[in-house]
Amino acid sequence: MSDRATVRESDPIVVIAASHYHRELERPGTESLPMIQQTETQQSAPVFDKGLANTIVAESEISFIDGAKGILEYVGIGIDELARNSTFEEVVFLLWNRRLPKAAELAAFIKSIQAEYDLPEQMWELIRQCPKDAGPMHALRTLVSALAMFDAEADDPSPAANQRKSMRLLAKTPALIAGFDRHRKGTTFVKPDKTMTIAGSFLTMLNGQKPTRTVERALDVCLILHADHGLNASTFAARVTISTLSDMYSAITSAIGTLKGPLHGGANEEVMHMLNEIGSMENIEPYIKNKLARKERVMGFGHRVYKAYDPRATYLKTFTKQVAADTGNRKLYEMSRKIEEIMAKEVAAKGIYPNVDFYSATTYFSLGLDLDLFTPMFAMSRIAGWAAHCIEQLADNKLIRPHVKYTGPHNAAYVPVEKR
Ligand code: ACO
Repeated sequence: MSDRATVRESDPIVVIAASHYHRELERPGTESLPMIQQTETQQSAPVFDKGLANTIVAESEISFIDGAKGILEYVGIGIDELARNSTFEEVVFLLWNRRLPKAAELAAFIKSIQAEYDLPEQMWELIRQCPKDAGPMHALRTLVSALAMFDAEADDPSPAANQRKSMRLLAKTPALIAGFDRHRKGTTFVKPDKTMTIAGSFLTMLNGQKPTRTVERALDVCLILHADHGLNASTFAARVTISTLSDMYSAITSAIGTLKGPLHGGANEEVMHMLNEIGSMENIEPYIKNKLARKERVMGFGHRVYKAYDPRATYLKTFTKQVAADTGNRKLYEMSRKIEEIMAKEVAAKGIYPNVDFYSATTYFSLGLDLDLFTPMFAMSRIAGWAAHCIEQLADNKLIRPHVKYTGPHNAAYVPVEKR
């Protein structure tokens, strides 16, 4: 709910990128965007907008979302088309360069990523020092942060250095995740394979053997679907951090911490816990109805922006059916479908549909990934979008610094400690 906060003359101004908003209105299917009173960049009193649900804080060319119609595009290309035809590496090129690469450019881009796959020896040692019972997201957040100390360019703010750091972060994260998983399981590290795709090299490091082409492609598709998504909470965190002119490693570390929450990237793991807890088809209906009656959230459903079907879930639903059948997890898929059916009857009228995390849970489980690796998979992909947004933010930077509506007392007396 929005209302106007009490403001003082000394309060700083709010600037809204209204020109972009008006451009968006000209696009088909964007009529449902929130109305903003300003018609041009101008001074005004701060507006109270809890959760920033109706505030536009930046212009972006990276991804477009129409929440009412269930549309997601990366640089204008529909997510469905990309998932069917592209690869994760090509999508990263698209997000970072705002165009599809020519064949030679893509080959060179892939080679540059592969050249950065391996970790400095001290990083492998650092993984060995992590407690084996630590959560993988805690390990990932710490290890990504630590990478900065082994990068001589960590504090070089030039666009060229930021692009190189983005490449390093993207390329090295799979080794951090797989390395930590092998460490906690007491197995020896498997080094990255510089001839393979990001998905293929990751699965090889994780499992100690090369994946089948079907499994590699399934992970590749998940990476494509998670690569960017407008100004979601973790991307916002990355943009806030970089807007202070901090460094890329700090921005990505902030984003990983933000993604971890169960209302954001942590939901996919929660979906799998729910499926395990339900256990059988006949338990589904009472389980979901009881949960809703207790006003609890069903994980993997609902979205701040989509009030129609999440287009990433549309694709994954079909894709997962095949992956689950190929890997002997058909029951899991059938259970997910049944949950969706019940949720449709109960809450679809409120605009609550499956989000990307709902069917990605079944996909990751079918690929044999441990439950607590689901969110790290999300991070591995979203680094592409976080990096793109950081570089975009820096190209036209303004410190992101909203307000709070103060609701505490004024003119309170300071009482000396002995008199309290
Ligand atoms: N299950 C049941 N009810 C729900 C759900 C859900 N998953 N999501 C929203 N609702 C209901 C709320 O109870 C509320 O009902 P009410 O109006 O009767 O009180 C109504 O829908 C609106 O909910 P809000 O919390 O105001 O919606 P918001 O836009 O803030 O929430 C969010 C979005 C946080 C994603 C929410 O839908 C949720 O908690 N979902 C479950 C967690 C999840 O799957 N997160 C992943 C999101 S996708 C991603 O990050 C990749």
